Amino acid sequence: MKVAVIGCGTMGNGIAHVFAQFGHTVVLIDISEEKLASALGTIEKNLKRQAEKGVIKVEEIPEILSRIRTYTNFSGSHLGDCELVIEAATENPVIKFDIFKKLDEMCSSNCILASNTSSISITKIAAQTRRAEKVIGMHFMNPVPVMKLVEVIRGYNTSDDTTQRIMEISRALGKFPVEVKDMPGFVANKILMPMINEAIFTLFEGTAGVEEIDSVMKLGMAHPMGPLQLADFIGLDVCLAILQVLHEGFGNPKYAPCPLLTNMVAAGKLGVKSGEGFYVYAPGSKDLKVSTVFLK
Ligand code: CAA
Repeated sequence: MKVAVIGCGTMGNGIAHVFAQFGHTVVLIDISEEKLASALGTIEKNLKRQAEKGVIKVEEIPEILSRIRTYTNFSGSHLGDCELVIEAATENPVIKFDIFKKLDEMCSSNCILASNTSSISITKIAAQTRRAEKVIGMHFMNPVPVMKLVEVIRGYNTSDDTTQRIMEISRALGKFPVEVKDMPGFVANKILMPMINEAIFTLFEGTAGVEEIDSVMKLGMAHPMGPLQLADFIGLDVCLAILQVLHEGFGNPKYAPCPLLTNMVAAGKLGVKSGEGFYVYAPGSKDLKVSTVFLK
């Protein structure tokens, strides 16, 4: 199958990686050549990691990489014969709506248009196109090559055929798809983000420090990462944007983002991607050090 992935950030490169790993031809599109080059570097590094663990054979890596073709523009010549497009661009409705309008013009009428959005309404995205029955949410989890879940989100008009096809494609990628309805935050983030927000409130109120809060959830509840480390990993700007969608979408004050989260995003402390959030991240180091802001 030929698949296009729009956006080559953390999620886009992981999605391209998995489709290429499972034998599909991938068209990877982003606006910047440098980002595309860096995404291919990340995919190669992660494929090597999988080869070291015996998930794939090291000899397969060049072939997997050769299945990914990169482009900096939208054109019918590389999008016209794709069966599926997965949009993984910035989590901004204006950007996503514009991308879906363009995709609707350039892709064949039987192509399914999926979004990897973590919280923007699939129904609103579908309304930008003339094929709402073929628009669906295909929400992968980070790191995409490792996490089994794909949250499959049915918009108001998404057809049974489209949903069944995306469930099948996800299973064939070794994933576990779960079908959910289009409501703010879907299921994953409706449950995850209030937990992360509550962890930030717990820090803000001075009940415990960063490491203490994360230790409680790691050692007490067997979470692989504590909620503050996970927030840094997801990106604090992404966490804030999702909480705002939940807050506005349900009109319920229980989703109001913690003022500390709002301040950290305003200060440019976005977590791993900016080098500092609740922890500081030195390039190449696996050591977790709490940001000096939160040390007593
Ligand atoms: N590509 C390929 N393999 C990778 C990888 C990647 N990008 N990242 C990690 N791995 C592999 C490693 O090779 C390793 O394999 P083995 O288990 O076979 O040894 C395994 O994953 C674990 O990696 P590490 O040993 O380096 O590190 P770890 O034990 O700390 O695990 C982790 C890393 C998998 C990220 C783990 O900490 C974890 O599960 N964290 C929680 C992740 C999570 O909750 N993700 C969902 C976030 S929410 C989201 O994505 C959606 C949203 O809308 C916000």
